[in-house]
Amino acid sequence: MSNESPKTFHVKNYGCQMNVYDGERMAEMFSGRGMEASDKEDADLVILNTCHIREKAAEKVYSEIGRLRRRDGSSPMIAVAGCVAQAEGGEISRRAREVDIVVGPQAYHKLPDMIDAVVRGESSVDLDLPGLDKFDALPKRRKSGPAAFLTVQEGCDKFCTYCVVPYTRGAEISRSFADLIDEAKALVDGGAKEITLLGQNVNAWTDADHDLGSLIRALDRIEGLHRIRYMTSHPNDMTDGLIAAHGEVEKLMPYLHLPVQSGSDRILKAMNRSHSRDSYLRIVERVRAVRPDVALSGDFIVGFPGESDADFEDTLSIVREAGNAQAYSFKYSPRPGTPAATMDDQIASEIADERLQRLQALINEQQLAFNQATRGKRTSVLLEKPGKLNGQLIGRSPWLQSVHVLAPGLAIGDIVEVEITESGPLSLKGEMLMKVAA
Ligand code: SAH
Ligand code: SF4
Ligand code: F3S
Repeated sequence: MSNESPKTFHVKNYGCQMNVYDGERMAEMFSGRGMEASDKEDADLVILNTCHIREKAAEKVYSEIGRLRRRDGSSPMIAVAGCVAQAEGGEISRRAREVDIVVGPQAYHKLPDMIDAVVRGESSVDLDLPGLDKFDALPKRRKSGPAAFLTVQEGCDKFCTYCVVPYTRGAEISRSFADLIDEAKALVDGGAKEITLLGQNVNAWTDADHDLGSLIRALDRIEGLHRIRYMTSHPNDMTDGLIAAHGEVEKLMPYLHLPVQSGSDRILKAMNRSHSRDSYLRIVERVRAVRPDVALSGDFIVGFPGESDADFEDTLSIVREAGNAQAYSFKYSPRPGTPAATMDDQIASEIADERLQRLQALINEQQLAFNQATRGKRTSVLLEKPGKLNGQLIGRSPWLQSVHVLAPGLAIGDIVEVEITESGPLSLKGEMLMKVAA
């Protein structure tokens, strides 16, 4: 245990974009207190912002703690934050004695006080789920990269039978409309051109008579903001207003991450997804009716308890039928405390592996076809980071494809119009035509 107040810090994120957002806010908080960001190897304080969604994700934290040990046997001050912290709590410091602080995803604004406690020689655990306190306690946003995240909603009330999120992030809770508009404006003033609204169920966001669709329409009026996205959404919360926004709000990008998880009604029921294969496909159809070029993304789980070959074939066929341009797919991982973990008929690991490979091959095939169809098209790209070649920058198309642009004189944060000249499975190349915004 350290007994000096840390002067440098390093935040390492795992898991979803909500953690990326939280990690940024932690960094802003520490910088605002005069601490400096540094490499993991040199930092006096390392925060591991963890994910509990699958077993592999959760185990990563323990191997990382081992790697933090320095040559002389000492360790930096270590804080475990995020969803493993919430799920395992004090167990973490019993299993890994190097850990000084365990702080849940809703309590990290209290880290400065917790650090002081560690300096006094106490260890510190805070797993409160106090709702929105952290947003009021954190410093205001100042600087932002061109593509910013904005958490609008936290938690989940859906209780899918495989999932830990309702336990690690608590009940669904929405930030106020006014707070979000303020934060969005601060992000745009700080350099953001694109804002991705985040939530475990982002489209469950609501405030008085606003739904996510009306929040998007309000953001649309912010000058200097060029692009709006949102993720991750649940099929049951796709309101009419949100679907309509896809056809009416030009700044809302044609990309929809709408997980279905399985194509089999029997499995969807066992998962407690509360939508069916057909109701899902109807939603996709309605979005396509107003925004025909929308790129559909999603999440899939293979090897859920009881999944037969026929159920799995239904998953392959829904990928084709829905026309996914992209998707994430996972092998089912039994999570302690979830109903599915104790269901009969758990699927053998080798069978799930083989299904995952087949599903991923299909998704890759569709992704490549989607990318190839953009060749020759003109499109806008928001440049976000330097590429490997001299004068090369990498950005995103409206459909969230990664686009490499070779054009000396351009800067990160520029929006350019390009013609797509090459397309691969993972990225595209664009030839610069003109600058749209700087
Ligand atoms: N709130 C989002 C996603 C949360 S977690 C939603 O409902 O869509 C991200 C993805 O991880 C899930 O969509 C699911 O596909 C996957 N996932 C969640 N629990 C899992 C588990 N126990 N095993 C494997 N994958 C899981
Ligand atoms: Fe997990 Fe289901 Fe909630 Fe998504 S909707 S976070 S998968 S419980
Ligand atoms: Fe992981 Fe927690 Fe996000 S479990 S996926 S970090 S909400």
